[in-house]
Amino acid sequence: MFNKEFLWGSASAAYQIEGAARIDGKGDSIWDVYSHIPGNTFKDTNGDVAIDFYHKYKEDIALMKEQGLKSYRFSVSWPRILPTGSGDVNPKGIEFYHNVIDELLAAGVEPILTIYHWDLPQSLQDEYEGWEGRKVVEDFTNYCRILFKEYGNKVKYWVTINEQNVYTSLGYLFDMHPPKKRSMQSYYTANHHAFLANASAIKLYKEMGFDGMIGPSLGLGPFYAATSHPEDIMAMEDGQELGNFYWTDIYCNGYYSPIVLRLIEKMGITIDLTDEDKELLQAGKCNMLGVNYYSTQTVSKYKEGEKLKQTGNTVQMGEDALSFDQFYNSANNPHLGTTEWGWTIDPTGLRVALRRMTSRYNLPLLITENGLGAYDTLTEDGQVHDDYRIDFLKEHFLEVEKAIDEGCNVLGFATWSFQDLFSWLNGYAKRYGFVYVDRDEESEKELKRYKKDSFYWYQEVMKTNGESLHDE
Ligand code: BG6
Repeated sequence: MFNKEFLWGSASAAYQIEGAARIDGKGDSIWDVYSHIPGNTFKDTNGDVAIDFYHKYKEDIALMKEQGLKSYRFSVSWPRILPTGSGDVNPKGIEFYHNVIDELLAAGVEPILTIYHWDLPQSLQDEYEGWEGRKVVEDFTNYCRILFKEYGNKVKYWVTINEQNVYTSLGYLFDMHPPKKRSMQSYYTANHHAFLANASAIKLYKEMGFDGMIGPSLGLGPFYAATSHPEDIMAMEDGQELGNFYWTDIYCNGYYSPIVLRLIEKMGITIDLTDEDKELLQAGKCNMLGVNYYSTQTVSKYKEGEKLKQTGNTVQMGEDALSFDQFYNSANNPHLGTTEWGWTIDPTGLRVALRRMTSRYNLPLLITENGLGAYDTLTEDGQVHDDYRIDFLKEHFLEVEKAIDEGCNVLGFATWSFQDLFSWLNGYAKRYGFVYVDRDEESEKELKRYKKDSFYWYQEVMKTNGESLHDE
């Protein structure tokens, strides 16, 4: 059973929806620059216009109200608030998010604000290599101070950093996101600074006297072993340590686990972990963990010649992308089907994720992303029959209900996404929303919105607080 306060919701991110990339004083983010370099994104698409939420937020929030959405997770664009990352504040940027938050509140929709969803100000990348420079901790904290001061009395749910694991992997190991690097050392350095920035933000939030829920959202893909062979079980253990607990232990316990530290050291990596850092990590523990869940990861011990090629995006990873082969290797899971983009579909994996996090940390969990990326077809009479999305979400909701029944404290569920939006590496072909946005890679058309079948289905789920999930 879902309790009455359950935050049924949906999510988005600034760069993927706002557009208005270069107006009203906004500075460039690393994505504004990166997406304009030919070959970096699918069909060279970018978020210059995206779905123009900047100008259409009232229309979109009216749709949220009509649907009965209880919460909406969105992110703030750092360079819209601080065009050069630090220094002068852009009043138009501050005003825009006040407008969005006020509109949401007036519509009865609880705002869940993500502070950082990958659009680092380009100036900070230029000045000190972004997340690789320690100064990012200070600049991020300063940015957070502005957000807390402006919006802290209106917003009760804060996501500090979105999927630190994903943007650092894609950006520093696989060269698929900015800054398009392939360096294990850079990856761990950038992560260390992101941990400090996250902790510093949470510490500041508490010091400023706010008592809302705050924490990062991890892209959480629980690890399975390919077989019951003890060597595969050890591969899974290493996978969990390096691929899940590395992040969650620091966020929730406030320290690097000794196993992770040793595994990292074995790779020849050094982390500049000072005594002050250790204190900060302790002082900045989250009081809620955001869970972005899409699929599980099955691993086996690496064997020469059996390396599984990674798929999953239209823009593919290079053959020489860095990996953790010495510890574990991706394997197929014969029990699971996949989406049209090759992501395994595993609703039970979400329950596994919630259970593992609860037994390890016993913290409130907020599902901050889950959804199905698919090709949708708009019919001539303006409909989208996305029964596949309904099936996908229904199965995931039911597993969450079981996890709650089994003792997990789940605050809410933000589906990805409310509107169709720009997919970083898949343009506008891969759609996730309840609301179809009529545009493609070639043309923005009129960016008209259409309600999909899933819009009405989710409306009923929310209205009945999940009861309708049990209807035949
Ligand atoms: C998450 C991100 O990793 O997955 C989102 O937080 C992203 O920003 C979502 O859009 C889906 O990924 P993709 O590549 O299918 O758009």
